[in-house]
Amino acid sequence: MCGIVGYIGKQTVKPVLLEGLKRLEYRGYDSAGIAVFTEEGFKVTKTTGRVAGLTRLTAREPMKGTLGISHTRWATHGGVTEANAHPHVSSDGKIALVHNGVIENYNDMKRFLKEKGYTFSSETDTEALSNLVAYHYAKEPPATNGKSRLFIAVRKALRHVEGTYGVAVMCTDYPDELIGARKGSPLIVGVGQGEYLLASDVSAIVTHTSNVVYLKDDEVVSIKRDGFQVVTTNEDGVEAKIDKISWNVEDAELGDFPHFMLKEIFDQPASLENAMRGRFSDDGSTAKFGGLNMTPRELRQIDRILFTACGTAWHACLVAEYLIERFARIPVEVEYASEFRYRNAPLDKNTLVFVITQSGETIDTLGALREAQRKGYKALAITNVVGSTIARESDGGIYQHAGPEIGVASTKAFTSQIMIAAMLALYLGRLRDMSFADGVVMVQALKSVPDYVRKILDQADRIHAIAKRYAHHADFLFLGRQAMFPIALEGALKLKEISYIHAEGYPAAEMKHGPIALISEECPSVFFAMSGENWQKVVSNIQEVKARKGKVILVHSEECPIPEDLADETIVIPEAHESIMPVLATIPVQLLSYYIAVERGCDVDKPRNLAKSVTVE
Ligand code: F6R
Repeated sequence: MCGIVGYIGKQTVKPVLLEGLKRLEYRGYDSAGIAVFTEEGFKVTKTTGRVAGLTRLTAREPMKGTLGISHTRWATHGGVTEANAHPHVSSDGKIALVHNGVIENYNDMKRFLKEKGYTFSSETDTEALSNLVAYHYAKEPPATNGKSRLFIAVRKALRHVEGTYGVAVMCTDYPDELIGARKGSPLIVGVGQGEYLLASDVSAIVTHTSNVVYLKDDEVVSIKRDGFQVVTTNEDGVEAKIDKISWNVEDAELGDFPHFMLKEIFDQPASLENAMRGRFSDDGSTAKFGGLNMTPRELRQIDRILFTACGTAWHACLVAEYLIERFARIPVEVEYASEFRYRNAPLDKNTLVFVITQSGETIDTLGALREAQRKGYKALAITNVVGSTIARESDGGIYQHAGPEIGVASTKAFTSQIMIAAMLALYLGRLRDMSFADGVVMVQALKSVPDYVRKILDQADRIHAIAKRYAHHADFLFLGRQAMFPIALEGALKLKEISYIHAEGYPAAEMKHGPIALISEECPSVFFAMSGENWQKVVSNIQEVKARKGKVILVHSEECPIPEDLADETIVIPEAHESIMPVLATIPVQLLSYYIAVERGCDVDKPRNLAKSVTVE
């Protein structure tokens, strides 16, 4: 959702900001804008639509300056219009501000500010904040205690905000100062050589520097050309820690791929390898994790695990439930984070809470984590983004090390989450009943995943051909049993989010209890059948679909004895250990969804209405 890029340094700011915005496009947005501090005052350009449009518009504008702020907006308050796009300049012309998040008390602010003579030209909550900063600025004496009048005014204004914000602020009187602040919406400071950036995430700054300060909630930073100072909205003297970003520029670039989603699908042998690196015991019989912050003895005392997340990460929780119950014999519950945080669920004393989140910033997942901690539970996180809010606030956890995921539809992050779930099942299993020998077998199986995934990726052309034959359909069902049920849900979600085709995932047996009414020649079903206890049952479900003239695309494991001519299309995946089949079965449906979306001419990496990191409730 919304992206912020701010810059102060030696370079001409316009191209720096536009390049940063381009790199934040994946977060999802519907309008964009830029404000540059020039000798003639702020030069502001805004537009609805893409950053490419903004680049064209600003091409004619000199916009000479080395300080500026910019924004991609995902509409919350007020429609997608140029007036509502950021930056918002206060009605006295002094303050320019960009904002991520939601200011819940903006109506009260607006009423107050109107009485004071400030005027409004947009429907946004953000404009109330730019005017509120201007109001405090007008009241402030020139400078106090080494802090500029601007710094103090922003700090004072933010004390009145109810809601969430990440902001970047400039003032016409301060050509050498950029202010940033956050609460609930991520904001980082890139620390370069004689230059600084403010950004919503690291992808906007990796081309400039790998040194970064992750601001915490309530922190306000004043950045000058020769250094920066961090305070909170109420207290001075915050010590800012400079971290190193581990991602590099190539990670965040397309290379030879037409879309990030395809690049990330093909990244999976490497991202899965990275999820495992250094995480097996020397005797090769179990997994090990450095950051759980729990001793084996403490983990032995857990008698229930609650997994919570949103969207695709919630599907990963369902896979974790299956794997942990199967291999570690610990009861697992799965909850949507948005439900858990407000449901006031009674939890058993010995419950361990796990959140799963690629971005580490999803607001509902963060809310669920905080709620669990408030109730006194240990809450751990499986997350991809180092330094993210959830990574910092959790009591411990496991990093995915999948590299940046830029495609809005999650692919490599999902498989790395379910890989980690399998490793966790192994680890917890070995702390309980799983034998050394079974542990060794499972470790070997996990290590073979990247090669198996490569073999499935080799079938991309074949899957593309299937996609061409089915891309015109308006409805799809995805059906699987046991660990394949969450993969069915994930397949349906992938297809609908990037191709806008209506798709539903169900446990295969549930089909008879309603969805079977949808079956016709016009509604194909994607089935999953793996060797093991249930494949005959899946075959029966397929036959029920065929009997109603439904078309079937079947993803099955190599040795699963599927009757000939049962399905209209088959995609065969390697026969492997049960624990890794969810990862393997995911790859074909990622490719299928991708190619169907491409066939339909959809903007795969920027699907309509979607945001990569959902930082509003
Ligand atoms: C779907 C997708 C979303 C995210 C969800 C949670 O492809 O990407 O459903 O999985 O918004 O995001 P994170 O994992 O960042 O918490």
